[in-house]
This record gives sequence, structure tokens and C-alpha cells, in this order.
Amino acid sequence: MQFHPGAKPEFVRHVESRLAQLRAELPTVLPPPPAAITLEIGCGHGHFLTRYAAVHPERFCLGIDILNDRLERATKKRDRADLKNLHFHKAEAVELLECLPNGISFAEVFLLFPDPWPKKRHHKNRLVRPDFLTTLAEHMAPAGRFYFRTDHAEYFAAGREVLEQHPCWRIAPDAPWPLEEATVFQLKAPAYQSLVAVMHERICPCLC
Ligand SMILES: C[S@@+](CC[C@H](N)C(=O)[O-])C[C@H]1O[C@@H](n2cnc3c(N)ncnc32)[C@H](O)[C@@H]1O
Repeated sequence: MQFHPGAKPEFVRHVESRLAQLRAELPTVLPPPPAAITLEIGCGHGHFLTRYAAVHPERFCLGIDILNDRLERATKKRDRADLKNLHFHKAEAVELLECLPNGISFAEVFLLFPDPWPKKRHHKNRLVRPDFLTTLAEHMAPAGRFYFRTDHAEYFAAGREVLEQHPCWRIAPDAPWPLEEATVFQLKAPAYQSLVAVMHERICPCLC
């Protein structure tokens, strides 16, 4: 993790202790390597991934979010459904990738209705951005798929452009959406758009 040169020491210590905890926890909750797992980033209340894990008992599904109350509700759903192939964990997406145990990769990654960060000065916080997609590609299984859905038209257009220009990814216009299960934010959205991208090169040739 690279810190801003002006970052306060207590902030650096706090983040480093969170990363150390995540590094210790992940091997205890993920299947042993080599495992190609299904990841949902920003899983919220877990509606989508709980249904997905029930439909695909052969896949191990990991849902991450940064909000405790959403993860608690998601975990209750998982327990009610008695799904052994599903785990919800508190983690920020960039930090998860940094702490992922060796040999673990993702066959599929879902990003459903992510925070759109509509103001231009906040676009750097969006997850569909070149450097995040490069790091994500490094952790994908061959031909791993990235599923992106949002109701924010400008984020969708910008995200599509980033993926079109990214050397590690190819948009697959004919690839089907694997499962329709409305999330909390999908139910509130008057309209939304989706795309599927396939990992093309794990190591970015431009080293962006
Ligand atoms: C707009 S909500 C969508 C939740 C859910 N996907 C849905 O469709 O109902 C975005 C979710 O992403 C989580 N989130 C935001 N930034 C994140 C990050 N960097 N890493 C992991 N989760 C994040 C938020 O806490 C929130 O639960």
C-alpha cells in the first residue's frame, strides 16, 4: 500500500493493522489455492450473491463490503439458506486485492450498482478505473469475467470507455448476464445498463 507523503503516522498504522488482519483472516475463510472464486465487490445486503451461490453450489462465492450492518444482514441470509460455499467479509476492494493469498484467483467478479462518485473531482474513487482494472486482471483466472451494472449513465459510459481502452480487458457484447436477481439498489433504479468484460492479458503491457 502506498501512502501519501503527508499521511499521518497514526493513519498509516491504522491501515497497516487492518491489512495485517485481512492477510491473516483470508486464508482461514477462502478455499485452498488454486481456487478460482466468484467475487462480488460492494455486495451490500447480499441478495445477488446469496442467490448466485445457491444456484452454483460448485462455486465458492466471496462478497465484500465496507459497511458492517450490510454484511451482518448478508451473513444472516447466507445462514438462513445454509450455504457452505458463500462467505461475506468486511474488506475494501483495493485492500482485498493487496491481501489476497498466493494462488487464489477470480473466475468472475461482479460490481453491481457501485457508488457512482458523480462529481468529477471524485472520479478517482471509482472502481472502474485503469489502475484498479490492471490490479484486478493480475488476480483473474484465465478468461475470467467482470460483470458491471449501474443505473448511473455517465459512470456506465465512462466505465465502458475505460474497459474498451484497457489492454488487459475485452468487452464481450454477446456474453450473457449469468443470473437475474435484483439487488436493493436495482429495485430502486428506474433503469440500468450492464456490460461483461473478459480478462485478456493478466499483466498489463503498458504497466499502467
Ligand atoms: C450503492 S451500494 C450497492 C450495493 C449492492 N451492490 C446493491 O446493488 O444493492 C454500493 C456498496 O458498495 C460498498 N462499497 C463502496 N466502496 C467500496 C469499496 N471500495 N470496496 C468494497 N465495498 C465498497 C458500499 O458500502 C455499498 O454497500
